Amino acid sequence: MNSISEKELAAIEAVKFIKNNMTIGLGTGSTAAYMITHLGERIKKEGLIIYGVPTSEATEKFALKNGIKILSLEEVKKIDITIDGADEFDTYLQLIKGGGGALLREKIIASNSEFNIIIADSGKQVSRLGAFRLPIETVPFATKKIADQLHQKGLDPILRKKGETVFSTDEKNYILDVNILPFYNLESLNQELIAIPGIVETGLFLTTTDLVLMGKGSKVIH
Ligand code: 5RP
Repeated sequence: MNSISEKELAAIEAVKFIKNNMTIGLGTGSTAAYMITHLGERIKKEGLIIYGVPTSEATEKFALKNGIKILSLEEVKKIDITIDGADEFDTYLQLIKGGGGALLREKIIASNSEFNIIIADSGKQVSRLGAFRLPIETVPFATKKIADQLHQKGLDPILRKKGETVFSTDEKNYILDVNILPFYNLESLNQELIAIPGIVETGLFLTTTDLVLMGKGSKVIH
């Protein structure tokens, strides 16, 4: 028998928080996809009505297939819970996100949610953020100049590519993946980055998370 992965265990636990008629912020990535699949099963079995605000075009398509009613951010009064994955999280519930390139919409939706749950496998837990390169979303027009500035600051930017072509986000921006390990004050680093004209958003989520559900072995740790 196949054992359930840590990602799927965390996703199953998160779906238990969802009640009929709720509006859910729908994350992006493989862990979030497990959550959408299990939510879809509950919708079918229990006849629930669930509204979803997706964090990416890929998530929107997948959520529709799973019976979730899609709403845009401007159509909803409030988002009850957002459930999303992460690339890294620490004990202070700080995150690096954006491995899948959806960091901008993910941060907007997290910031507009009443409660934010992160679901992850145990490999995502770190004592200090930064082994995973921090994604920074940039306006294409300014990206080369921003990369030069980040290089001078010691952040070693790498322009994200998909095969031979430059990776483009749902908002048609680019991503520079940087090394933040030499930087200890993440709040001030984030402020400094956001202040650079042409940087749209960073994948540092320092204050939005309320709960992390981590699959570890066959258990889920809250
Ligand atoms: C997408 C994200 C994802 O949540 C993150 O990359 C984790 O992905 P996965 O669940 O596939 O490990 O931030 O922008």
